[in-house]
Amino acid sequence: MRVLLGVTGGIAAYKVALVLRRLVEDGHSVRVAPTAASLNFVGRATWEALSGHPAPTETFEDVPSVAHVRLGQSADVVLVAPATADFLSQMASGAARDLLGNALLATEAPVVVAPAMHTEMWNDPATRANVAALRERGIHVIEPAVGRLTGPDSGPGRLPEPDDLVSALYGVARGEGLSLTDASLPWGDLAGRRVLVTAGGTREPIDAVRYLGNHSTGLQGFAIAEAARERGAEVTVVAANVTLPLGEGISRVDVSSAEELERAVGELAPAADAVVMAAAVADFRPASASASKLKKDGSAGMTLELVQTPDVLAGLVASRAPGQVVVGFAAETGDDAGSVLEHGAAKARRKGADLLVVNQVGDGLGFGASDNSVTMLDAAGAPVAEAGGSKLAVAGAVLDAIVKRLPAP
Ligand code: CTP
Repeated sequence: MRVLLGVTGGIAAYKVALVLRRLVEDGHSVRVAPTAASLNFVGRATWEALSGHPAPTETFEDVPSVAHVRLGQSADVVLVAPATADFLSQMASGAARDLLGNALLATEAPVVVAPAMHTEMWNDPATRANVAALRERGIHVIEPAVGRLTGPDSGPGRLPEPDDLVSALYGVARGEGLSLTDASLPWGDLAGRRVLVTAGGTREPIDAVRYLGNHSTGLQGFAIAEAARERGAEVTVVAANVTLPLGEGISRVDVSSAEELERAVGELAPAADAVVMAAAVADFRPASASASKLKKDGSAGMTLELVQTPDVLAGLVASRAPGQVVVGFAAETGDDAGSVLEHGAAKARRKGADLLVVNQVGDGLGFGASDNSVTMLDAAGAPVAEAGGSKLAVAGAVLDAIVKRLPAP
């Protein structure tokens, strides 16, 4: 089949190189027409090398072959990916500012358009009107995927994965139309699932100004939340003293002490398909907290009486709904009594969570570090998976393990 691949000026253009490679591997003849702006993201050499053909941009390149008409006429199917808001506007108005604009007017082949942009731009009434006008004309506009966008925000606006774009294109080429236009169906293996994540470290008040705390930054929990969102889940984070921003489209409940965290989790957990207890919850709190600042008494020392906090994870395991996946974390240092994994396995059996994610902390490992290395254990303490690398990579592996344990929707 002869495919015309239009590439416009969005960062997601890099994903389209994989679309091109897949189409060529599948035996199709692909001509690429990048817009001038898109060459800021992926250079012409990439398109030419992968397609084996020139990749002209302007109407006045290759004039003798009347490329602006021929390109469109000789295509069996057209894919524009990524399509920017500006390009959608150009298409909707029928403008032919560059080679791709001309080719789109000249073609009679089915056209598939995959917009990618920030959520606000996608939701803007002007963009909505342009998309509606294109669909009215029979152009197949793919709903953007929901997930991480450029920068810290996430939401609808992401270019679907290359294989999904190729499947959509083949469906249209076979005359089956587009099956991926329903905005209520976000893509990803966690679509339709609710995931609750706790992150950060609790603070247990000693007096009006002091607390008992720990070094947890919330980085790993936030990475899990963002990765889950990216995979289509509806995500809520209970954040204990975390100063980091969270991507858009994720609900956030801020708490400070173990007691507050327990209350928030108690309210939110029943509705969740998976609960990930990544927060470092204090095991002890001062028996009483002074409402005013405690004062030194001469040179005398001081003894703080501590009492145990509720074990939130144990409570979750005991009260979980059938099918709910409960995940605990165990930050271990290892000691004379046992290695990191031995302590982890004993904890897995004690806590009974579906998964216990064990990592070694101390000596620059774990808290606050950008990388992590974990072993996941089942409720019997047996290792089921290992993961290492960035906290986002570890998040992906934890979610893979969760997805395997979720009952079919
Ligand atoms: N946890 C919890 N409530 C607590 C303490 C811990 O829910 N009061 C959860 C943590 O969020 C984590 C898991 O339990 O997912 C393991 O936390 P950790 O502090 O390592 O376990 P402990 O129960 O404190 O075990 P130990 O004292 O033996 O280290």
